[in-house]
Amino acid sequence: MFETRVLSGMRPTGSLHLGHYHGVLKNWARLQSEYPCLFFVADWHALTTDYGAPEAIEKNTWDMVIDWLAAGIDPQQAILFIQSQIPEHAELHLLLSMIVPVGWLERVPTYKDQQEKLTDKDLSTYGFLGYPLLQSADILMYRAKFVPVGEDQVPHVEFTREVARRFNHLYGREPGFEDKARAAVKKMGSKKARLFNELRTRFLEKGEQQALDKARAMLDEQQNLSRGDRERLYGHLEGGGKKILAEPEALLTEAPRMVGLDGQKMSKSYGNSISLREDAGSVEKKIRTMPTDPARVKRTDPGNPEKCPVWPLHQVYSDQARKQWVVAGCTSAGIGCLDCKQPVIEAVLAELAPMRKRAQAYLDDPTLVKNIVADGNEKARKLALETMRDVREAMGLSHVQ
Ligand code: TRP
Ligand code: SF4
Repeated sequence: MFETRVLSGMRPTGSLHLGHYHGVLKNWARLQSEYPCLFFVADWHALTTDYGAPEAIEKNTWDMVIDWLAAGIDPQQAILFIQSQIPEHAELHLLLSMIVPVGWLERVPTYKDQQEKLTDKDLSTYGFLGYPLLQSADILMYRAKFVPVGEDQVPHVEFTREVARRFNHLYGREPGFEDKARAAVKKMGSKKARLFNELRTRFLEKGEQQALDKARAMLDEQQNLSRGDRERLYGHLEGGGKKILAEPEALLTEAPRMVGLDGQKMSKSYGNSISLREDAGSVEKKIRTMPTDPARVKRTDPGNPEKCPVWPLHQVYSDQARKQWVVAGCTSAGIGCLDCKQPVIEAVLAELAPMRKRAQAYLDDPTLVKNIVADGNEKARKLALETMRDVREAMGLSHVQ
């Protein structure tokens, strides 16, 4: 019924690094040629945690968009936009907040996790509690089928499915259908009808797959139902009739987690990253001074790639033959660490050179980027208004004059 749209967002963290490239952007670039894609800057999401430091948001937003473009996100194929420029996201967030129990939000695993982790910020705010629901509004607004995200975001996509289901359950009923379905339920006999209704509610409101399976099995076993009634009840069971909002699916990025220069996860805040616009001299220096297997104190000491942060970089950049060369040379002290690092340096430089060049063109002429985003905002807004028309109507807010 809905077109297979892909949507994903990123909080504006400023210029991006190799971890973003291998973990996210390469995947977006592949998807944009396969599906209609929307990629956006989640600047409101940034405010849910960084409301105390709004100064950085503006610059970070444009730096990030430039890096998307530099990394091959193509505005001819994908729609690029900024969340706060589409005020309908706030409207949908508000309307969804009417139907979402507070407990659902409190139970999202990232809620307590982040509160415990980010102790320097007061995250007992209304906005932070609503973080996943704002994300649901982002996703449901475009009726996205696929949402490419990292593992940490999967609970938010699951949550969004439940919100969509509850919305459709409340507002998606078609006239006539409900009455017929209810009459069919009665034909099952009062005891079974009660159980069936209970299972249905558990599935629709809480997403319990087991309840759905059980209710389906009941229908299969029920002898006295006509074929028409049975099919009606299958539809009724899953929310029946109209589905105003589409349930999305998370598309897990299978890319290896990029390790940083010290062997930990690559992250700007750990100071172990290489940015997409890093100049050649700095890339070279950073890799040359990376720590290696601590057992290789002297050039003649053999090492073990498994204990060396350079090794994961070879996993990303080297073919089988070169990896064999590393293992053989490292374990026999046949090669030195600088020999081992040289091909990685060259591969990173080769990867970054075209990106740096593309980024420079946008830095030289910022109106290019502004125009791309203005165009994306306009296209996104049009799609958003289509959904909002249906949502407003469903919730009694058409107010045709
Ligand atoms: N919460 C996401 C993150 O931190 C960013 C985001 C906001 C998002 N809205 C979204 C991702 C909608 C996918 C879809 O990475
Ligand atoms: Fe690491 Fe390569 Fe040195 Fe072995 S030779 S310790 S893999 S840098």
